[in-house]
Amino acid sequence: MRTMHDKKFTIAGRMLWSWLAVILVTTCMIPKAMSQVKLDSEGHQWWQHAVFYEIYPRSFADSNNDGIGDLNGITAKLDYLKNLGVDAIWITPCYPSPQVDFGYDVSDYENIDPMYGTLADFERLASEAKKRNIRIIMDFVMNHTSDQHVWFKESRSSRDNKKRDWYIWRDGKGSGEPPNNWLSTFGGPAWKFDPTTSQWYYHFFYPEQPDLNWRNPDVEKAMFDVTRWWYQRGVAGFRLDAVDTLFEDPNLHDNPELPGKNQYGDPNMQNVYNTKLPELHGVLQRLRKVADEYDAVLIGETWTKDIDELKQYYGEHSNELQMPMDFLFTRVDKLSATEFRRQIAGVETAGWPVFVLSNHDIPRAFVRYGDGVHNDQIAKLMAALYLTLRGTPIMYYGEEIGMTNNDPKRKQDVKDPIGKLGWPKEKGRDGERTPMQWNTGENAGFSIAKPWLPVAASYRTHNVATELKEPDSILNFYKRVLALRHDDPALRDGEYIGLNDDDPNVLSYLRRYKDAAVIVALNMSATPQKVNFDLSGQGISASKATTLLTTMTGNPSSVSLRSISLEPFAVYIGKVE
Ligand code: GLC
Ligand code: CA
Repeated sequence: MRTMHDKKFTIAGRMLWSWLAVILVTTCMIPKAMSQVKLDSEGHQWWQHAVFYEIYPRSFADSNNDGIGDLNGITAKLDYLKNLGVDAIWITPCYPSPQVDFGYDVSDYENIDPMYGTLADFERLASEAKKRNIRIIMDFVMNHTSDQHVWFKESRSSRDNKKRDWYIWRDGKGSGEPPNNWLSTFGGPAWKFDPTTSQWYYHFFYPEQPDLNWRNPDVEKAMFDVTRWWYQRGVAGFRLDAVDTLFEDPNLHDNPELPGKNQYGDPNMQNVYNTKLPELHGVLQRLRKVADEYDAVLIGETWTKDIDELKQYYGEHSNELQMPMDFLFTRVDKLSATEFRRQIAGVETAGWPVFVLSNHDIPRAFVRYGDGVHNDQIAKLMAALYLTLRGTPIMYYGEEIGMTNNDPKRKQDVKDPIGKLGWPKEKGRDGERTPMQWNTGENAGFSIAKPWLPVAASYRTHNVATELKEPDSILNFYKRVLALRHDDPALRDGEYIGLNDDDPNVLSYLRRYKDAAVIVALNMSATPQKVNFDLSGQGISASKATTLLTTMTGNPSSVSLRSISLEPFAVYIGKVE
């Protein structure tokens, strides 16, 4: 029989149960919004051990032979990438776009441009990549949309449209006068007059790329949701386009002018009021929280004037970008041991380094460092450099076969609008975006249709099929360095210790991890060099190194650390016991 006491107990019990249920449900919900970041036994995250590879989809592989690369083309090459040693691919924008800036003018963030395929093709690419343990990084064009995006179409339709404030609209100064003196980095004023509402909108890049107003919380929410949409489709992170341009001074102060003119004939300008505003770090911190829910990585297109500026992008509490790219490294304009040593030491103090040699905006390293005679050796030297440093490398497609720049010779051949506008001082970026060289066949095996950009003549010797067959090719050298980098604990996890810091010709360092150490010596000069290493300061008494990889003739299996002879541009990588 039940007593009053029992009843009370039952009520209390029910209450307890409902409380438990509430707690249970909420705790089940918490992990979704919580960090999913995973650490390995060394305390590293997946992207710290990964080798990234940038793909410019227009130029990688054309599966349907219309002269433009596509997603199915990339899928067909996944085995090639896996065998090369690639762990993650960053695909530059393949979203629907009028292609004014070849995809960096996005008209729909949650779809694929028909020229590159369909969402189903993307899903197939993602699942095939996953089978091979290759992650996919998408490009996040945050600063601006296309002027054909529905958001902008609405925004420009009337002054009181709900999306008006999603972009930056202002009255001009006077008749025909833009609101202030800010310039587009692609030439001309950064403001365009729109007759529909008689106001000007702001665009840091082309007029077809209106800047979003990141001060509007609705913009932030819509854009953050875009990243979630892709994370839920298996994307492992984003490369953030033009992050330093997210915010502008709301008071529109004029920028200070500098003497002289730029390549477009505009006055030189210091972009102090429309780039690198501190507000952008708040956005990055909040975007990082979303990324952490998916164990995703954020890579930054972080153009900085020095290391202190680069440091800021990691965030004061490492709570912004995990991988801000160090473009100071790409600014080293000659093969110089002293200069590279200085840059490495700098980024070593900043955070986890991210090394890049070139990309779709930067002329290929093959021509920047090549001397016209020893380019192949120098290409291997550069590979040995950025693939054996502490940090994460981002390769650019074709670098592994020694692709060269193929710049347009005549203005009428230029495709990149900045090349048309700035010719001949600015030839545009076509040269570093030419089709991948797969074999010696028609159009280098990229497509049987005429490619959108001409294939470089070097395809006859520098292509995947030929180089796979040559033991000493650039491609096989890349494969060996990448294999070492994946397998050797010192190269994977070891600290960086610069050696022989006064040597102007040979760049040398140790990568050291627990008891393991690897020595790297790179002759950056055109003359033979002798180097002598005394590692007693490092507590290493060994007098010999066992070769892991070298370009030295005779391929010695070991060398004396007291006297290593390096031929011009030679690479030596060895294990020190
Ligand atoms: C970044 C891209 C570049 C593009 C620009 C505008 O710099 O790398 O290719 O033109 O942003 O989106
Ligand atoms: Ca195609």
